Amino acid sequence: MEVIITDSYEEMSQVAAGIIASEIRRKHDLVLGLATGDTPRGTYEELVRLHRSEGLDFSKATTFNLDEYLGLSPVHENSYNYAMQRMLFDHVNINPSNVYVPQGNTDDPEEFCHWYEKKISEAGGIDLQVLGLGGDGHIAFNEPGSSLAGRTRVKALCKQTIEDNARFFDSPDDVPRLALTMGVGTILEARKILLIASGLKKADMVAAFIEGPVTSHITASALQIHTHATVVLDQEAASKLARADYYNWVRDNKHLVQKHVGR
Ligand code: F6R
Repeated sequence: MEVIITDSYEEMSQVAAGIIASEIRRKHDLVLGLATGDTPRGTYEELVRLHRSEGLDFSKATTFNLDEYLGLSPVHENSYNYAMQRMLFDHVNINPSNVYVPQGNTDDPEEFCHWYEKKISEAGGIDLQVLGLGGDGHIAFNEPGSSLAGRTRVKALCKQTIEDNARFFDSPDDVPRLALTMGVGTILEARKILLIASGLKKADMVAAFIEGPVTSHITASALQIHTHATVVLDQEAASKLARADYYNWVRDNKHLVQKHVGR
């Protein structure tokens, strides 16, 4: 795992957007996995800026979002589908027929999840998967105890996630209890993974998933067994890491490291 500690949320967002942009420039038909939530807002803003000012071209890219609340239609203002349109898709030249977000109001969730996995595989698999980090250590909606081999399916949200996400709804009672989510197994098949996390409230989980044991109780820890995972943090999120000096040394000596050393 490569751990990049930045000074601020803004710098974290710029570094993350820079990584995504260089993958799109390298491979125009990139298959990009995307996350919703608060953390990637700045990253998507920067991607929109790069599209407008430097012509970053999304026209051949395909995107797959990680998750969606079960029961919310794509136009519901609390749906992840709606959030993605507002944050990114409305502002770049992506072809709408290449955009996939789990459909929260599907009549047959199980069938939908099979179809979603099939679409990912028909697209050639995900080249780069963007992730946030839940307060309970989840990636996508893979709550504590989820199988580390799990595929796209329905998951019940745990109490902490419902409380954390209540800020987007009028009341905690309005937060859906179920979600459609890619599994950890689906995520680990992405060729590259980029996780971003910011703020003090994520610091304990950041230290646990990077430096603690691999455990299904902190599903982000599964990134330890991926061969190309990058984590970009701001100072606060990184503040409880025991080996920050080492990660910083590696970052500052990248010219040496890239030549000779693996992740
Ligand atoms: C959202 C997702 C979630 C979030 C996580 C952090 O698509 O997959 O795992 O990334 O809950 O959310 P924020 O960024 O709002 O703290």
